[in-house]
Amino acid sequence: MPFRPRYTGLIEKYRDRLPVRDDTRVISLGEGNTPLIRLNHIPGDLARGIDLYVKYEGLNPTGSFKDRGMTLAVTKAIEEGSRAVICASTGNTSASAAAYAARAGIRAFVLIPEGKIALGKLAQAMLHGAVVLQIRGNFDVGMRLVKEVAEQAPVTIVNSINPFRLQGQKTAAFEIVEELECAPDYHCLPVGNAGNISAHWLGYREYFEHGIVNNRPVMVGYQASGAAPFLRGAMVDHPETVATAIRIGHPQSWDKAWTVQKESGGWFDECSDEEILAAQRLLAEREGVFCEPASAASLAGALRDARAGRIPEGSKVVCTLTGHGLKDPDIVISQCGERLRTIPAELDAVRRAILDRLE
Ligand code: F0G
Repeated sequence: MPFRPRYTGLIEKYRDRLPVRDDTRVISLGEGNTPLIRLNHIPGDLARGIDLYVKYEGLNPTGSFKDRGMTLAVTKAIEEGSRAVICASTGNTSASAAAYAARAGIRAFVLIPEGKIALGKLAQAMLHGAVVLQIRGNFDVGMRLVKEVAEQAPVTIVNSINPFRLQGQKTAAFEIVEELECAPDYHCLPVGNAGNISAHWLGYREYFEHGIVNNRPVMVGYQASGAAPFLRGAMVDHPETVATAIRIGHPQSWDKAWTVQKESGGWFDECSDEEILAAQRLLAEREGVFCEPASAASLAGALRDARAGRIPEGSKVVCTLTGHGLKDPDIVISQCGERLRTIPAELDAVRRAILDRLE
């Protein structure tokens, strides 16, 4: 039987397209290579005529797309002799930074908004041994503090303002192109700081400019209504949304994201919390894919824009599912409580419960 070479992470796979040397010590957990899943049921019912895929980034090692950027950011931090990394985070970046710092044998400091991150993400950062600092302020405040403290302490910032993060994250676009054998017509993402939408555009542009593909997608970014500075065209001082991962009012990649919008001919729009949670549930119930609320914003928005004809029939559409649903079980249980039934531990009761539902 012929064996395929073992997959050892995106830096090894895309070495030629990333800023690493032959002797660079790579810090990897096998990130990347995530499934691109074609949706079978949802397009037929809700967005007739589009060819719809989800890129399931929740299957990265720490359960989010952040790992693509973190492998490179931490690899470069080590190469430069850094002994500690720091980030502000709504949760996923902190989980990823903590894991890759542990892998590298260095210290991670993470600033998170008190009470506003999903429990799974908090558990990850704590278990991996990061110094977890809860602040009485939101992500935007944390980001400002991180930038200030990094001027006074020997720590490397691994938020997406670190250019290596975007370089790592651009590989998601490479994978999509390789699998579809073209770029999609539309690529929809949830937007917080707008690092990821900018990174994807870098990847699509690179493959286009190097003649690997002859088309580029229209890039579409969706934000939660209570945290939608791109739609409003101005920063939001008190962002609020159930999708805590994208509870951001002062995006760090503001200018980059507007360039993406202009160059790709795309747009930004908003989704209400209700639309986000409905899309999360729909995807789980109809397709068997469990993503976190923020991730579902991409699908919620794409379905709405497809129904409205803004995304035309016949389009090939990719939605990025940025994080795994298991990160945030609380929100699910609070939404689906009615599905949990308690019955006596007796055969009769079990049989009745089954037959009731089969009628
Ligand atoms: N989806 C999820 C699940 C996220 O965690 C984030 C960002 C985004 C989307 C938005 O990506 O910022 O590149 O536009 N989370 C950051 C964090 C802010 O700290 O984990 P973006």
